[in-house]
Amino acid sequence: MTDVAKRGGAPVPAGWTYAPAPESTDIVRLQERYGLYVGGEWLETKEHFTTVAPRDESPLAEVAQASAKDVKNAVAVARDASAAWAALPGSERAKYLFRIARILAERSREFAVLESLNGGKPIKESRDVDLPLAAGHFFYYAGWADKLEYAFPNRTPKPLGVAGQIIPWNFPLLMLAWKIAPALAAGNTVVLKPAETTPLTALLFCDVVRQAELPPGVVNIVTGDGRTGAALVDADVDKIAFTGSTEVGKAIQRRLAGTGKKLTLELGGKAANIVFDDCALDQAVEGIVNGIYFNQGHVCCAGSRLFVQESIYEPVVDKLKKRMATLRVGDPLDKNTDVGAINSRMQLEKIEELVAAGKDEGAEIYQPPCVLPERGYWFAPTVFTNVAQSYRIAQEEIFGPVLSVLTFRTPEEAVEKANNTPYGLSAGVWTEKGSRILWMAERLRAGVVWANTFNRFDPTSPFGGYKESGFGREGGLHGMEPYVELT
Ligand code: NAI
Ligand code: MG
Repeated sequence: MTDVAKRGGAPVPAGWTYAPAPESTDIVRLQERYGLYVGGEWLETKEHFTTVAPRDESPLAEVAQASAKDVKNAVAVARDASAAWAALPGSERAKYLFRIARILAERSREFAVLESLNGGKPIKESRDVDLPLAAGHFFYYAGWADKLEYAFPNRTPKPLGVAGQIIPWNFPLLMLAWKIAPALAAGNTVVLKPAETTPLTALLFCDVVRQAELPPGVVNIVTGDGRTGAALVDADVDKIAFTGSTEVGKAIQRRLAGTGKKLTLELGGKAANIVFDDCALDQAVEGIVNGIYFNQGHVCCAGSRLFVQESIYEPVVDKLKKRMATLRVGDPLDKNTDVGAINSRMQLEKIEELVAAGKDEGAEIYQPPCVLPERGYWFAPTVFTNVAQSYRIAQEEIFGPVLSVLTFRTPEEAVEKANNTPYGLSAGVWTEKGSRILWMAERLRAGVVWANTFNRFDPTSPFGGYKESGFGREGGLHGMEPYVELT
């Protein structure tokens, strides 16, 4: 009998606990109050709001609420800076981008701690995923800046001018990097608005911009809520790049219709993670867990609909529940934490509402025993079985640590069910057969299809959706195209 079997399958002896491993927050120096970063300077505004730490609701700083007038001014400043920036040789623009990448790498611990503090994600994720990828995007697009004339064969790329960029709260610094790096490499200047719950890493990024000696006005950061975002959409920009909810994405598209401004939208998702009976089961279970519980499920490409082939339904669900019981939920700043805090009270309420709907509609809920901290925003990792395709939890984006399990018998049925959604951002396929992976990938209406892995990102690889998940690609050479005019 193995030791694990003797313990009745428990991975560690009962009573074993982890010692706390808190990351120190000393490295982060916050100001009491932040203005807007425009033209290389900090500008004051009339209104402010408080940004908090989701792990305990403690206030972190006062942040500016930019008015329409403030936004207009920032765009005018970006416009003034754009001709000189566009006229620089690509190799010169590349130098700045390489500098930014290097500084981000050098200051990565500071940024990772702040990201976890302000957003609630586990420090091991901000440290090992967000920061290396953010720096990686700047490195990658720095490499294109002096090669633009070879990037689009037989066509000449020209910068658009000023890009307005609106980003969400689930990967604050990483989304900033996805937006700013290609825009700058192509010769545009930017005005970026971070999400209202997570503005702090974008504001710290202004210090990186200063350190890299970027010409004033090339990168401008305006903070505020949806009103500030709407003002940016209406301002004199040449392009809007938006990542966020499908609802707001649609509103922006309506607003921009007929204006001639370019638009890319990266919106919600309800990804299918499809597990065939010939897969490596334990690896698939790791992939399922990573697919939905990574970043508390605040991931547009999260594998929130699990499709299991009927013949292996029981072992998969059994292994999944055992694995869930080992997830450590708690302080995002603890290095052993797997699942951190929910980003905001609003998001927590949305998750609670959809979970209640799942129970009402008749799905069976499982949550591993875990003690949630008293203060702050928390939700235990959750799995629903007995889910019908028509249930809200199988249709709507929950954007939380909540998985719905459904079944299928044949590959055809898997494809049909997986595509039965208004979204089309990502999908996962778990099988031993290469031919089946290709067969599935061809038929799944999703911008990204992962095979025997999930939530894997690389700056060189394009990312984006179909249908209500939006249009346009970010990452790779594809991610450069929305920032140039081709003649
Ligand atoms: P949201 O779409 O309202 O916010 C995203 C960004 O858009 C923020 O910076 C926000 O200030 C800005 N914004 C809000 N209203 C705007 C407007 N009228 N014009 C221009 N910009 C505007 O998303 P929210 O309310 O934070 O989350 C709601 C749901 O959206 C989530 O529960 C989730 O399902 C989904 N979502 C999806 C994301 C993704 O990565 N695809 C990211 C964030 C949310
Ligand atoms: Mg909203």
